[in-house]
Parts: sequence; C-alpha cells; structure tokens
Amino acid sequence: MKIALLGAGRIGKMHAAILAGVVGGDQLLVADVDEQAAAALAAANGATAVSVDEAIERADAVAIAAASNVHGDLIRKAIGLGKPTFCEKPLAPGLEESRELVALVESSGVPLMLGFQRRFDPAYVEARRLIETGEIGTVYAIRLAGHDPAPPHEAYIPASGGLFRDFSIHDWDVIRWLTDSEVAEVYAVGAVRGFEVFRKYDDVDTAIAAITMANGVLAVLTTARHDPLGYDIRTEIFGSQDSVVVGLGPRTPIRSLEPDWVGSDAAKWDFFIDRFTSAYEAEIAAFVKVAKGELPTPCTARDGLQALIVAEAATLSRKEHRPVTTAEFDA
Ligand SMILES: NC(=O)c1ccc[n+]([C@@H]2O[C@H](COP(=O)([O-])OP(=O)(O)OC[C@H]3O[C@@H](n4cnc5c(N)ncnc54)[C@H](O)[C@@H]3O)[C@@H](O)[C@H]2O)c1
Repeated sequence: MKIALLGAGRIGKMHAAILAGVVGGDQLLVADVDEQAAAALAAANGATAVSVDEAIERADAVAIAAASNVHGDLIRKAIGLGKPTFCEKPLAPGLEESRELVALVESSGVPLMLGFQRRFDPAYVEARRLIETGEIGTVYAIRLAGHDPAPPHEAYIPASGGLFRDFSIHDWDVIRWLTDSEVAEVYAVGAVRGFEVFRKYDDVDTAIAAITMANGVLAVLTTARHDPLGYDIRTEIFGSQDSVVVGLGPRTPIRSLEPDWVGSDAAKWDFFIDRFTSAYEAEIAAFVKVAKGELPTPCTARDGLQALIVAEAATLSRKEHRPVTTAEFDA
C-alpha cells in the first residue's frame, strides 16, 4: 500500500514517522510545496520526496497534513482520483467549502477520514464505552477543559478563525461522539484575560461555553490559550451510576490543594503530540485499514462539518451575547 503524505510541517513530521512504521518508509511518498522540507522528511523516514500531484497520482491512499487553507484543494484532487484519503482537521476553514466537500465526498463513495484523534485515545474510548453500554447510567453532565500551554504567535491569530474554530474543534467533535447526539444549542462568553494581542483580531484568549445536546445532556467547556502548568485536556462525565474523567493522571497539569493529596514528579503534559501519541498511532492504523477497505471510516467529512457548525454557533454566540442553536446553520 503506497501512501502519499502531503505536508511536511509540524504534524506532517509526526504522521510520516507513524506511517513509515505502519506501511514501511519505502511505501511512503512525501510532498510539500516547500520542497526542501519534503526532501528532509522523506530522507528521515526512508521515503521518497515527489511533487504534490505526482504523490497523489502514484499513491493508493493519501494523507493530508498540509496547512488548513489547502485541505479543500487537496481533498478534491485525491477524491477526484478515487484515492482513500485521511485529512487532518479541519475539513476546510469555512462552512460553505465544508458543505461542498461533504457533498463531493458522499457522492463519490471514496472514503475520507478526518483527523479527530481523540476518538482513538484509550481513555476517551473507554468513556464512550461506559456511556454506550449504560454503565455510567443517565449522563447528567459533561465538563470539558481545553487549555493550551502558551498562545500562538501573532500571525497565527487572524488566520486561525478564532478560539472556538481553531482550538475547541476537538471538543465539539468529542462531545458529539461521546453522547452520540448533536449539539442543539450553545451559549458562549469569552474575554481577553492575559494577552491583549487577541483583541486586535476580535478574538479572545479565554472562553467558556454552555452546551445543550439534542438528547438533553448538558455540558460546559472551558477553553484557554494559556495554562502555566501545561497542556490540559480533560473531560469529566457525571452519570447516575458513576463519575469518570479523561485526562486526569500523574501528568495532568493541575495542582490539588488538598493536604492529603499525593502528587507525582512526572513531567506534565505540555504538547499535543506528547499528550495524544497513542491516539495518533491508533488513528493512522485505522486509516490504513480504511484505505484497504477493511474498516468503514470512523470519522467522516460530515463529522468535520458538524463540528465546524458548533464552532460557528459558539463564535456567533460570543459575539452577539445570546444562546445560538445549531439549527441556525442548517444547510
Ligand atoms: N489533530 C491535531 O491535533 C492537529 C494538531 C496540529 C495541527 N493540525 C492540523 O494539521 C495541519 C498542519 O498543521 P501544522 O501544525 O503541521 O502546520 P505547519 O505550518 O507546521 O505545516 C504545514 C505544512 O503544509 C505545507 N503546505 C502548504 N500548502 C501545501 C500544499 N498545497 N501541498 C502540500 N503541502 C503544503 C507547508 O509548506 C507546511 O510545511 C493543519 O490543518 C492543522 O489544523 C491538527
């Protein structure tokens, strides 16, 4: 199985190493508009560097890890040639293009798998099992936290689409996946609490969102661009039979103030690749099965669109200071 990896940046480097481990470096074609980056990454993994078009044409399947604004073009090319495709989130930066891509992918019958890696994280998988089997009982509420260690550089901010589209997109997906339900309504507020630069772009560095799922589950998300202790991704689920948490362990970047708390010297999570290594590995292993026709895609283009709709609703809610239903964005 020959795989074309498009994009040799931060996450492309990680995917190249994982793909080389799964299919072998000699089966990997690496392409990037930055030819030097592609050549260096190919050399590091025993792969071959080629142009983007050649990579797509020669491969049996395509993995897109390029910048978000080119996802649409690359998906159109790969799906157009009938190649099973993995694409890092987001499907596309905007709603209109995302809707077009969903229509294209669904009418093509070619599998497209979107990169929401939390669906492959062992603790998230267990959380979903507990909900699905009913072991947790009636889910009363879910509390999500997504805190980045440090804000991005200034040039990233206007291109990011804002906190809810850029950073919280994984939370919007995971709450839909965990509850097997759609977000019905979101009410979000946000503020600039530490980094004035966000104000320049009508963005915020800290926000919370109250979420009502279509099946009645209530959830709340805190999201922040800065956490002095590290990268804190947690999801707490409170049910009638059990209370569980994803992301609480020796590496969680939070200090308990309880006198009898026994802490850990383990290094705290401070980077998404470190936090979700096993999830990214399982995600790529699943994609190779999708590409071989052994598995239906576990995370579709439509999942990408639905997550983006919640991000749009949260962004509008914050700006207009009112609860916004996702129905306002129905096609
Ligand atoms: N799932 C996750 O947790 C996660 C984390 C980080 C980034 N991402 C996503 O991964 C993607 C890449 O992010 P990154 O942090 O690696 O960015 P990056 O800027 O480090 O790398 C992007 C690369 O894409 C290349 N590129 C641009 N246009 C291209 C084209 N037409 N064809 C081929 N290559 C092209 C650039 O030259 C660059 O090397 C983004 O879409 C981002 O949203 C996902």
